[in-house]
Amino acid sequence: MTATQQTFADLGKVLVIIPTYNEAENVELIVGRVRAAVPEVHVLVADDNSPDGTGDIADKLAAADPHVQVLHRKGKEGLGAAYLAGFRWGIEHGYDVLVEMDADGSHRPEELDRLLTALRGADLVLGSRWVPGGRVVNWPKSRLLLSRGGSTYSRLMLGVPIRDVTGGYRAFRKETLLGLGMDEVASAGYCFQVDLAWRTVKAGFKVAEVPITFVERELGASKMSRSIVLEALWRVTSWGVSDRFDRITGKKKNDAQARG
Ligand code: GDD
Ligand code: MN
Repeated sequence: MTATQQTFADLGKVLVIIPTYNEAENVELIVGRVRAAVPEVHVLVADDNSPDGTGDIADKLAAADPHVQVLHRKGKEGLGAAYLAGFRWGIEHGYDVLVEMDADGSHRPEELDRLLTALRGADLVLGSRWVPGGRVVNWPKSRLLLSRGGSTYSRLMLGVPIRDVTGGYRAFRKETLLGLGMDEVASAGYCFQVDLAWRTVKAGFKVAEVPITFVERELGASKMSRSIVLEALWRVTSWGVSDRFDRITGKKKNDAQARG
């Protein structure tokens, strides 16, 4: 696929944040694909001190390319924590658009231009598997059920009008992140994605979904675990329950958030 001819300079400076934990086989490939697909963007690898040496490979890529930088974190603290650190780093360094992308190739850099194009008319763009045109390639039935079930449960529990609320291929305007209360986010694992989407909707920002083709990784292993699923289940349930309770008792939503 050839590099996109359009430029996104009107959106400001774009930073693609790629969180990594043991992605030694993938990091060079994904950074190269991003740089080829949309050459104007910058990349930040947010590595949690991966034992397999991903951070060292990322350092070499950064040394060779001024568009690539690395945020070394001290240990594995979860996807949510890595993204929050990456967002803060990006905003401090003058970026206007912050993109989330997995390291394993599931989020195809060749579709990044679609997300950025849609961001011209939105505050958050979600790459979506569950809208017409969206697809998943090579996922086992069990994982499809988990993801669709998780998305549907979150949508019904929280009342968010989003089809793919757990997805992790996203583009945020800086103003969206600054307006949704990043400092109160406690989600560590993948429910971080639900948390941020819900906060974005509640803060009144405009969310757009664009169809993507999610391709299951060929190299390395998923970090999805039982504890990540359980954290998502209990957090989404408790947000939904306290939100309903507040609506019934007429309390302000903000009180509930302050209580956690
Ligand atoms: N820094 C850091 N720290 N990175 C992490 C951590 C962590 O604790 N845990 C996972 N990652 C990175 C992985 O290295 C990878 O780049 C990305 O986060 C996604 O991890 P995967 O393990 O490949 O996720 P998945 O394919 O099972 O899950 C996908 O689907 C989920 C549900 O829809 C992702 O797209 C998730 O973002 C999404 O929520
Ligand atoms: Mn993956």
